[in-house]
Amino acid sequence: MRIGVLGTGTVGITLATKLAQLGNEVKMGSRSPDNKTASDWARANTGHKASHGTFEEAAKFGEMLVLAVHGAAALEVVSAAKPENFRGKIVIDTCNPLELGSSGVKLFVSNTESLSERIQASAPDAKVVKTLNTVNALLMTDPKRLGEELTVFIAGNDESAKKRVAELLKKFGWNDIIDLGGLEASRYMEMLLPMLMQLHAVWQHPNFGFKIVRKG
Ligand SMILES: NC(=O)c1ccc[n+]([C@@H]2O[C@H](COP(=O)([O-])OP(=O)(O)OC[C@H]3O[C@@H](n4cnc5c(N)ncnc54)[C@H](OP(=O)(O)O)[C@@H]3O)[C@@H](O)[C@H]2O)c1
Repeated sequence: MRIGVLGTGTVGITLATKLAQLGNEVKMGSRSPDNKTASDWARANTGHKASHGTFEEAAKFGEMLVLAVHGAAALEVVSAAKPENFRGKIVIDTCNPLELGSSGVKLFVSNTESLSERIQASAPDAKVVKTLNTVNALLMTDPKRLGEELTVFIAGNDESAKKRVAELLKKFGWNDIIDLGGLEASRYMEMLLPMLMQLHAVWQHPNFGFKIVRKG
């Protein structure tokens, strides 16, 4: 499958690499067609049909898309990538609406709306599925890295899109995938971020993750 990964940060690199290793044709997108991280990544993964380009080129290329950009820039990225290039496509949204200021971590949208819902509104014909935003990039494609089964959440309005994304997560090694319902549930997934950031601040390392223990 052709997949466009919009984002050249740790998440973009991690997911693009795994998706390419799984046999997909992956194009990494960024603001600039000459982005060094993206071109280095494509060169390092030529054996896996990897390429790079602008956000727009990656969005146009992909039959499925991954959005892994700085949260405050996400809507700008969708606009640069052109909403028509999202039409009918599954968009895996990993972004968080983080606002890092002197007074600690804040979310620039929360409670009654989420960044995912804003992304969905800016590309109304896309099938936005929120997932992996509560997982450190090191664990995204290596979820058993800490020696225990962790939990990943998923939310979205299109049931078949969520099913396809869950299948992909299983290929990444995830077994405990909790479907939280429609895309409104992405609010609660995003609202877990301050807790994760605080744990990171306390422990000063990223080797932890959510595990939901339940009975029934
Ligand atoms: N890092 C993690 O462990 C982790 C875990 C879970 C979720 N997340 C979320 O996943 C997303 C990606 O995180 P990340 O750490 O991989 O990378 P990041 O540093 O948050 O984002 C990098 C990407 O954002 C783009 N970007 C930054 N400023 C921009 C602007 N003003 N306009 C347009 N694009 C802009 C960059 O574009 P260029 O390519 O052009 O430079 C780059 O592709 C974030 O929303 C983050 O909260 C991260």
